[in-house]
Amino acid sequence: MKPILPVALFATLLLSSCTNSSEKQETAIIPEPISIRTGNGSFHYSTQTRIEYDQQNARLKAMATNLLPAQGKGRENVILLQTDASIENPEGYTLRIDRDTIRISGGTERGVFYGLQTLNQLLPEAPVAIIEDAPRFEWRGMMLDVSRHYQPKEYLFRFIDMLAYHKLNKFHWHLTDGIGWRIEIEQYPELTSKGAFRKIKEAKAPWIGLELAESPTAENVYGGYYTKEEIREVVAYAASKQIEVIPEIEMPGHSEAATFVYPEYVCSGAKAGSGIYCAGNEATYQFLENILSEVVELFPSEYIHIGGDEVGKEQWAQCPKCRALRKKEQLKDEHELQSYFVKRMERYINSRGKRLIGWDEILEGGLAESATVMSWTGWEGGIKAANAQHDVIMMPLDYVYFDHYQGYNPYEPQAWGGYNSLHRVYDFPVVPEGILPENVKYVKGGQANMWTENVSETDHLEYMLFPRMAALSEALWSATEVKDWSRFKRKMDRQFDRYAENGWNYSESAFTPMIEQQEYKDGKTCITLKTELDYPVYYTTDGTEPTTRSTRYEGKIVIDNPSTLKARTFRREKPVGYPLIIADLQNKATGATVRYANPYHAGYSGGGDSALVDNRYAIHRGDDKSWQGFERNDMDLTLELKEPVRVSKVNMRFFQHLAITSVMLPESVKIEVSENGTDFREVYSEKLAAEKNVDGLIKNYTFAFEETPARFIRIQAVNPQTLPAGHRLAGGNAWVFTDEIAVH
Ligand code: ACM
Ligand code: ZN
Repeated sequence: MKPILPVALFATLLLSSCTNSSEKQETAIIPEPISIRTGNGSFHYSTQTRIEYDQQNARLKAMATNLLPAQGKGRENVILLQTDASIENPEGYTLRIDRDTIRISGGTERGVFYGLQTLNQLLPEAPVAIIEDAPRFEWRGMMLDVSRHYQPKEYLFRFIDMLAYHKLNKFHWHLTDGIGWRIEIEQYPELTSKGAFRKIKEAKAPWIGLELAESPTAENVYGGYYTKEEIREVVAYAASKQIEVIPEIEMPGHSEAATFVYPEYVCSGAKAGSGIYCAGNEATYQFLENILSEVVELFPSEYIHIGGDEVGKEQWAQCPKCRALRKKEQLKDEHELQSYFVKRMERYINSRGKRLIGWDEILEGGLAESATVMSWTGWEGGIKAANAQHDVIMMPLDYVYFDHYQGYNPYEPQAWGGYNSLHRVYDFPVVPEGILPENVKYVKGGQANMWTENVSETDHLEYMLFPRMAALSEALWSATEVKDWSRFKRKMDRQFDRYAENGWNYSESAFTPMIEQQEYKDGKTCITLKTELDYPVYYTTDGTEPTTRSTRYEGKIVIDNPSTLKARTFRREKPVGYPLIIADLQNKATGATVRYANPYHAGYSGGGDSALVDNRYAIHRGDDKSWQGFERNDMDLTLELKEPVRVSKVNMRFFQHLAITSVMLPESVKIEVSENGTDFREVYSEKLAAEKNVDGLIKNYTFAFEETPARFIRIQAVNPQTLPAGHRLAGGNAWVFTDEIAVH
């Protein structure tokens, strides 16, 4: 994995070169409040500031002490905290800043808390203002997966601080999953003594093919869990930050760890650790109810999340017990069996005074009576559930999955799935089209999900969270009327400083230059660039590192001779984000005609017949449509160059990603040249070394040979044809992915 960019080290507020004087006045509050009216002058916060609060409300005092460290003798000025029953929304507040008094009035103490959060962003020199504010949604959530990678209690306190800072109020705690069980259950101690510890395997894909450790203390073991005491501490800490903790206990799928330890709850014929509980076995329900009986005691939240996503139905279809239950209960198919399972769990959860939440697959086969649905696969589940008058929380994966990439650059650390950039998250509409107006009220809000398959270290975790959490907070808190991407972009300049001041790592991906358009025409390459945030970009075409003395990007770059383009964004004269590097522009293959002996796969055309000679480079993501893919076939193609030239080198790149895709490096490469297109002569042949690395890997090759005249170049790259032993689809079709052929 590439190193993650460190937190910027400059904490002082300098104005970037793109802000002007009127913007200096901007309050830069994130999330944007409903209304801000500013006046002249400011309130200066210091150790002389006195804090006063409703004497009856001890919790206001605790809040103030936590958030406002000054607490001085108070000769100079005063901050007053109070609740005000005339503020309708319990989370709403009014913040009045005068030169010598600040008054925060909250609908309840929750409102006061958010007023304090806002004030915190304005200190120490808060401008005279009246700010009125209340959240758009009551559910403003963030999920953290601690199963794939565990974070100790102490880190969760920090995580909770981050949520509170962004006015989020729900921590969805994904406590169990296939790869590790993380919550102590007294009736089933082996869930944690065994189920919380796995062997570290050579393959860097721990979430595939779980093997439990022999013991927690053996060598090469990964794991951890939370004792009940630790859970109570996390819940209490969260409550002090106005955050409700919703526990998730996955069932009936995603349960490899639990079903390894307690194999008696898988279907007949299924293996221990099959990951799916038998729905036809009465004992399964007893087991899960016993577990939940301990969970409900630990969490004051009215909600218990039972997962319910991605349940493969094959085991149930084969299992005599499941089939017998289906017959007895007259269930049409396995979807109805799943619905039966969820409804039974709901009955139990309701009997304990709680409400059930599940992922949107719980709609399959019929929704349980009062279930709340988390719509993650898209909007459809949420629309359907809301129109059936069920509460819904929106989190479509193509907006708010923070395990997805946030930047389009080969230096981005390995991530899962697609591309949810800062702007994409900002545009999360929460309420989609398709919900009847009278049912919109069932959309309680939204959340972002942080799955941690690829994220083990906390600086990487924060890199994935920030700055996207800022965009999420405006999507969930701010009224649509005050949301404004241009304004948000300017405010982010201050927000990055706040992150640095708090010691929170963040990604600079939104600064990174990307190609907006690239076109090869009339012997020239024309490139336009874009960045998500508006900062100056400088570039070079001679391979040197860009500085602020290099050419500043203004609208487009035209290249008409062999070049390497390097572009970099600068903030306060310092490079930020990753560099954009496009090598081998205008090489001898650029614009050549390519003829294919074996066709590329239609689904991975890379853009068609010119894809390999257009100087556009795919990045290290299997879903990047710029890769040209060959399924089981060898790559076998011939370039017809625009004119006869002398050649001595071919640069190529291939992709491999065995952890989650079927893409492998080729076994060997052969290059032949010809001057007339008929008589070919081999100039290069090599068996390529295999790469064990299963993560996304782009391998660059240079194939050099004695200089020779050529007009035609035939290149063959031999596909391994089948996936190797150990791959989850071993024996299946191997793919070769390539992009760009450069000839010199
Ligand atoms: C999920 O992302 N499988 C809920
Ligand atoms: Zn079964």
